[in-house]
Amino acid sequence: MRTPPVRRTAEANVNVADTTLYDHARNQLSALCRVAGFAPGEVPEALLAHLLGSVAAQRLSDKPRYLSDVADDGSPVEFSLAFDDSGEQAVRILGETYAENPGLASNAAAGLRVFRELARSLGCPLDRLEAVRDLFLPAEPEGLFSLWYSLILRPGGRPKLKVYLNPAARGEDRDRELVREGLRRLGLADAYETVEAHALRRGERDRFSFFALDLDESPLSRVKLYVSHDSATAADAEHAAAAVSSVDSLQVRRFCHAIGGTEGPFAGRPLVSSYSFVEADPGVPGNYSLYLPVRDYVPDDSVARERVLDHLRDSDLDHTKLDSALRAMSARPLDEGVGLIAHVSLRLGDFGTGMTVYLSSEAYEVTAPRGVTSGRAASQKPRGAA
Ligand code: TRP
Repeated sequence: MRTPPVRRTAEANVNVADTTLYDHARNQLSALCRVAGFAPGEVPEALLAHLLGSVAAQRLSDKPRYLSDVADDGSPVEFSLAFDDSGEQAVRILGETYAENPGLASNAAAGLRVFRELARSLGCPLDRLEAVRDLFLPAEPEGLFSLWYSLILRPGGRPKLKVYLNPAARGEDRDRELVREGLRRLGLADAYETVEAHALRRGERDRFSFFALDLDESPLSRVKLYVSHDSATAADAEHAAAAVSSVDSLQVRRFCHAIGGTEGPFAGRPLVSSYSFVEADPGVPGNYSLYLPVRDYVPDDSVARERVLDHLRDSDLDHTKLDSALRAMSARPLDEGVGLIAHVSLRLGDFGTGMTVYLSSEAYEVTAPRGVTSGRAASQKPRGAA
């Protein structure tokens, strides 16, 4: 296996090769929550352990038994810090629950079990997930993942859960069919045409990448559709964004330029669009978000940091917390790797605007800066059984 590099915790430069994934992720989560203004004791550590499943006990020095597609190094968690234009921040974790014998189907079963256990304590209804479960979770799923969760945390608020399903679970060519049927079952049939007209204009280069559900009771509980755009330009993203009438397309172009460095085409990892729908208004998405995988468009994380900082400032968002958020993840010099800042997203529309920065846990590996070695080695490994 790869030799693990010397690990550095968020707290100190010590070799922590014996650390478990849970310890590593918990340290990062508590540090990030401090940055976002959580009171001590407000960090849901037990919830994190529960959601990790069997990978919680994985030692960072041991060969991982399964590589998740959540992050480039195969770690099953990715953090994010959402900057709202209200001045507040939310901390989120995207992750994959591992079964005792991790695999696409077994992890989905383990994830469902955890959701069912948590449904009551978190007060989250599972009826919408149940309504589409058989579509997206076949007995022999295909693709890079089958079920991911996201845990959303705000100071003083109850933790919220979101679930991600894979439109390619029955084959890459069936993504549109699965999404259309999923929407129909959720009373959102009209949403499909809206997305098709704005985001599926370039044949096979546009494909559905996630079908996501908020697991909560509120009338604003959303269904989110994500579309990946291979080799797209800022103009393609502007077109996609125009599905939300209140969106100013200039903001989309400025974002691509500021974070991606050009207006495209973005030929590395793809730009991704997402649309949020609520039942009350099925034909019209309330929000549009654009995700830019910045790590493919910078030489190293110090450049990514500069771009994010400048754009937070230019967008009148709170830029003062970015550096401490990066330090919450890792103490390594930013120019010694690429991908600590994995994606940056722009959120626009009636449900709130802002920017979100996605932070890798780098639990297993740091990707070398581009131009130093082969660069993308870690990200090109096949996913799944290690
Ligand atoms: N690691 C995958 C990717 O980069 C999936 C993923 C994780 C992702 N976080 C994301 C995709 C945020 C889009 C946006 O594609």
